[in-house]
Amino acid sequence: MVEPLVHVEGLKKYFPAGGFLKKVWVKAVDGVSFDIFEGETLGLVGESGCGKTTTGRLILRLIKPTAGKVLFAGKDVTRLRGKELKAFRREANIVFQDPYTSLDPRQTVFNIIMEPLKTHGIQVDDPEGFVTKLLYEVGLNETHLYRYPHEFSGGQRQRIAIARILALRPKFIVLDEPTSALDVSVQAQILNMLKNLQKKYGLTYLFISHNLGVVRYMSNRIAVMYLGKIVEIAPAKTLFENPLHPYTKALLASIPVPDPEAARTKPKIQITGEPPSPINPPPGCRFAPRCPHAKDLCRQKDPKLKEIEHKHVVACWLY
Ligand SMILES: Nc1ncnc2c1ncn2[C@@H]1O[C@H](COP(=O)(O)OP(=O)(O)O)[C@@H](O)[C@H]1O
Ligand SMILES: [Mg+2]
Repeated sequence: MVEPLVHVEGLKKYFPAGGFLKKVWVKAVDGVSFDIFEGETLGLVGESGCGKTTTGRLILRLIKPTAGKVLFAGKDVTRLRGKELKAFRREANIVFQDPYTSLDPRQTVFNIIMEPLKTHGIQVDDPEGFVTKLLYEVGLNETHLYRYPHEFSGGQRQRIAIARILALRPKFIVLDEPTSALDVSVQAQILNMLKNLQKKYGLTYLFISHNLGVVRYMSNRIAVMYLGKIVEIAPAKTLFENPLHPYTKALLASIPVPDPEAARTKPKIQITGEPPSPINPPPGCRFAPRCPHAKDLCRQKDPKLKEIEHKHVVACWLY
């Protein structure tokens, strides 16, 4: 059996939220488990607020979990300290959605890209040549070396953020809605660049997005998240051809269809009602209040993830 590069098990993050008399918790991530294998892209998709970013931050240990564990190359990330934690920070990194806040506005591109090397005490013989090479990797060049972030477009800033991470020769990158803030044409360029870099450097990605089309384009496998839980995981093609969870079906049905005729004839499985709040999630299956197939059991008992066919798991009482 191949060992996964990232193994997530029973991961939970509860944030404290107000509550005068009684302590209230936002159950942002509530017991998720999955693997990410070396060289693959696992897509993580779901509506805004379902816990995608929190999951990414937990894996990178930017925040501490309430419960559960994350193994990276077999080591429990939640217990790393000192030198080992520093080594992990070099191997695993994150690209954020907003390229306008992730770069220090007072630093030149050269300094921005050299900064992580300084933090990790890495010497390079020819820093200017080193940074220039990285700039070419992300579609920029030496004329950009001594410019400041405000002189770049959103797409170019995202390229700089990616170059800064590549400087450390990472193994694993969490891409958290990396192109959601960009124009569609720029989006495609950045996504293609990320794919090429993955091939060239054997990178492993967790690709987070609320956009199923983008996730499909990028991912080998896709995990669908709903209100702090994973409801389905399958190879990308399988998920689109044979979605099993009623929530996955509803998500797929909500993708706009370019052909107006097809849009009219396509059966619609509408999600009704608002997503319930992670502060007070319903007992049983969290999707039950919005699910057209919900039975009594669904409202009482939480379904566990179950393998329906090879590599296709779903948490739903219908199966
Ligand atoms: N630091 C925090 N403190 C309190 N609540 C938080 C914090 N971070 C996220 N949340 C809440 O956790 C839930 C999941 O958030 P997030 O992981 O950002 O979702 P997504 O990335 O899927 O949009 C949301 O209800 C959000 O408001
Ligand atoms: Mg998010």
